[in-house]
Amino acid sequence: MIDRAGEKIESIVPHEGPGVRINARPADGFLPDEPRGILQCENVDVYYGSFRAVTGVDLKFGLHEITALIGPSGCGKSTLLRSLNRMNDLVDGARVEGRVLFDGEDIYGSKVDAIEVRRRIGMVFQKPNPFPKSIYDNIAYGPRVTGMRVDSMDDLVEEALTKAALWGEVKDKLKQSAYSLSGGQQQRLCIARTIAVKPDVILMDEPCSALDPIATVRIEDLMHELRREYTIVIVTHNMQQAARVADRTAFFTAFADEGTGDRTGVLVEFGKTTQIFEHPTDQRTEDYISGRFG
Ligand SMILES: Nc1ncnc2c1ncn2[C@@H]1O[C@H](COP(=O)(O)OP(=O)(O)OP(=O)(O)O)[C@@H](O)[C@H]1O
Ligand SMILES: [Mg+2]
Repeated sequence: MIDRAGEKIESIVPHEGPGVRINARPADGFLPDEPRGILQCENVDVYYGSFRAVTGVDLKFGLHEITALIGPSGCGKSTLLRSLNRMNDLVDGARVEGRVLFDGEDIYGSKVDAIEVRRRIGMVFQKPNPFPKSIYDNIAYGPRVTGMRVDSMDDLVEEALTKAALWGEVKDKLKQSAYSLSGGQQQRLCIARTIAVKPDVILMDEPCSALDPIATVRIEDLMHELRREYTIVIVTHNMQQAARVADRTAFFTAFADEGTGDRTGVLVEFGKTTQIFEHPTDQRTEDYISGRFG
């Protein structure tokens, strides 16, 4: 089976849901054994005050790959994701230790501009959160406030909406409120808004959990398109979704501190998605993916 880019693909988990086509991701054979890391965690701990939510994470996110972060609720997936673009800076009491390297540079370095980090490493949230503005202005907002040099804002808006597979549906109503769109359209608008400032990496925290199955398929298809240009990290609770979209998967769990009882998240296992789902090497991964835990 050959997909649009001529890559050999294999379908591993067919979509559930009515009348939807089987999605697929590139075959493992096309993935290097080790990710070519554009973004990398080195011994990352994240604290909220004195509470250590995540500890000791070493993880490489491969260029033009989709990496899924999975694991039971509370194991620190969102916390870790937010540490990848300094979104935790905006959370009271949050603190990151260790290093997060982007293109070889520590994003927590003293000379690094957090706003620029968040432009190059964008984020899409669980619940679509368009601004209370027109569709057009949602896209134009980022380029305007970041002072991007733009030859034609109209072209930029069209390009971002096209890349987010939304242009055809909204091109005749760009001045309408973003709130007039369906949930799935709003989420694609949020993706377009992220793309508009020309990021390298897109972080997604359960981007489909508020969407119906058809809208979910559209976002998953879109992710396959986007990985040609961007590196994607997705947190998902849906293991079928991880299996459908991700090149590699990282499984996290939490362990309880014997003294305090605090539950701290750790990375248990990281590998190609097929390996994680078909031949996990850690019993905790096996238990989780087979539904015995979490
Ligand atoms: N702003 C915060 N302040 C204090 N503690 C927090 C904060 N956000 C998260 N935590 C705690 O950090 C731990 C990890 O939470 P996080 O939201 O990262 O988990 P998660 O794996 O994303 O869970 P879920 O799957 O439910 O979204 C939890 O114990 C949570 O209570
Ligand atoms: Mg979360």
